[in-house]
Amino acid sequence: MNCAGVLHDAARGMRPEKRLADLSADALARAFAVNAIGPLLVARHFEPLLAHGERAVFASLSARVGSIEDNRLGGWYAYRASKAAQNQYTRTLAIEWARSRRNVICVALHPGTTDTDLSRPFQGNVPAGKLFEVDYAVTHLLQVIDRLQPADSGQFLAWNGDRIPW
Ligand SMILES: NC(=O)c1ccc[n+]([C@@H]2O[C@H](COP(=O)([O-])OP(=O)(O)OC[C@H]3O[C@@H](n4cnc5c(N)ncnc54)[C@H](OP(=O)(O)O)[C@@H]3O)[C@@H](O)[C@H]2O)c1
Repeated sequence: MNCAGVLHDAARGMRPEKRLADLSADALARAFAVNAIGPLLVARHFEPLLAHGERAVFASLSARVGSIEDNRLGGWYAYRASKAAQNQYTRTLAIEWARSRRNVICVALHPGTTDTDLSRPFQGNVPAGKLFEVDYAVTHLLQVIDRLQPADSGQFLAWNGDRIPW
């Protein structure tokens, strides 16, 4: 499970952008480093450990806002694009491992909007009853992982198992 991710960091002046004028090259680069490149480097280092015949799952927490098709609100340039890149890396890796690590199922997962430090500044926008407790999100993600079949490798799935459009 790749769980690391970054959306904001007030101490370093990183905030989700509302408009183009809010862009910072440093924040864009940091979002890509943590959200997109990080999970791929983890995969590179874990690859030798996955050379066995048993079922294994390599899952990275992504975010629905990384879906290009689902992008109706705009904004959040760094986070959206870094999650879209993460998804592309996951898909590309799944294709490679379907040849070289056939025991591994490789997926991107959306946990749902969950009560953590990452979502805290934006929870006011979440409709009542739609903010998940961490235990709820984790329980559902583990159920999705348990049910994964080899044919699911390379997919982008939500906490309830639904496929999310790219
Ligand atoms: N919460 C949500 O509503 C939500 C929704 C959709 C997707 N997600 C995704 O779910 C994942 C987990 O997020 P969360 O909600 O649990 O957020 P969180 O509470 O802010 O946790 C983020 C984690 O990432 C780690 N991290 C950040 N930058 C890092 C770096 N440079 N190197 C190593 N670790 C780093 C943090 O470590 P430290 O504590 O040591 O800084 C922290 O453990 C993220 O990928 C996020 O994008 C969350």
